[in-house]
Amino acid sequence: VSLLLVDGREAGAIDPRDRGLAYGDGLFETVAVVDGRARFFDWHCERLESGAARLRMPAPARALLGEEIQRVAPPGRSVVKVLVTRGNGARGYRPPAEIQPRRVVAALEWPERDPSCWTRGVRVRWCRTRLGRNPALAGIKHLNRLEQVLARAEWRDESIAEGLMMDDRGLVIGGTQTNLILATAEGFVTPSLVDCGVAGVMRRAFMGWAAEQGIPVGERAVTAAEAAAARGLLLTNALIGSWPVRELDARDLEPLRCAAEFNAWLERQ
Ligand SMILES: Cc1ncc(COP(=O)(O)O)c(C=O)c1O
Repeated sequence: VSLLLVDGREAGAIDPRDRGLAYGDGLFETVAVVDGRARFFDWHCERLESGAARLRMPAPARALLGEEIQRVAPPGRSVVKVLVTRGNGARGYRPPAEIQPRRVVAALEWPERDPSCWTRGVRVRWCRTRLGRNPALAGIKHLNRLEQVLARAEWRDESIAEGLMMDDRGLVIGGTQTNLILATAEGFVTPSLVDCGVAGVMRRAFMGWAAEQGIPVGERAVTAAEAAAARGLLLTNALIGSWPVRELDARDLEPLRCAAEFNAWLERQ
C-alpha cells in the first residue's frame, strides 16, 4: 500500500471496534485507475450506493470518493480499494442508532500477470465450496467473503488462474473473483445473480459492449453441465477486463476471440 486514507486522513490504523472488522459489516470496491482516472467510476459508485441502501447505511458522496481516489493513486496504472464500513459499534450485532460510517481508500500496486492470460486464455477449475443463497445480499459487494476465501484455499497450483463456484443447488454463479460469460448457440449467457454472487462492473461493461455488437447477453440460471459444454467461456472483473478460458478441469476449450475484441474496446474507454 503506497497511500492509505482513513476518513480522508493519512493514517495507517483502523479502530479495532470497527464493525467492518468485527462482522464484515460494510462494503468494498476494487477500482482500476489509470493516470488518475478511475475506470467505470460511476458504476462502482452505483454498486456501492445500492449496497449501502441494502445494508441501510449511508454511502460516501461521489465527489468525495473521486477526490480521495485521485489523492492516493500514483501516476500510471494502479488499483484503488475503497472500503466503507458501518463504523464503530458497541458490543453486539445491533447497528448503532447513529451510524458514523468509516471510509478507507488505499492505493495498491497494479498486479502484473502473464500476458498470455489475455491472449491464450487461462486454466480454470471447479471449486467444492458452495455459495449460500441470500437475495438480501446478492449482487452487492459486501465485506463477507469467507466463501471465496475457502474456495480460493482449495488450490495452490499457480497455473490455475481461477475457480468456478456453484450455489447449493449446483447452479454456476461465477469465479471466486470474477463473473462468468458463456458463449452458447443462443448468444452470450451469464448466470443470474438474484440469489448470490457479485454483480460485477466488468460484467456490466461486457453486456454493454455485446449490446453494441447486436449480441444479446441472457441472464439466467446456468447449470455446471451447461457451463462445461459451452462453446467458450470468459471471465471478467474490473482489473483484468476479460480473460478467455482455455481449460476447465483438464478439458480444453477454444479461447473466445471476442475476449480480445472486448479488451480492445475497453482500452478505448
Ligand atoms: C465474487 C466476485 N464476483 C465478481 C467480481 C467481479 O466484479 P467487478 O467486475 O466489479 O470487479 C468480483 C470482483 O472482485 C468478486 O469478488
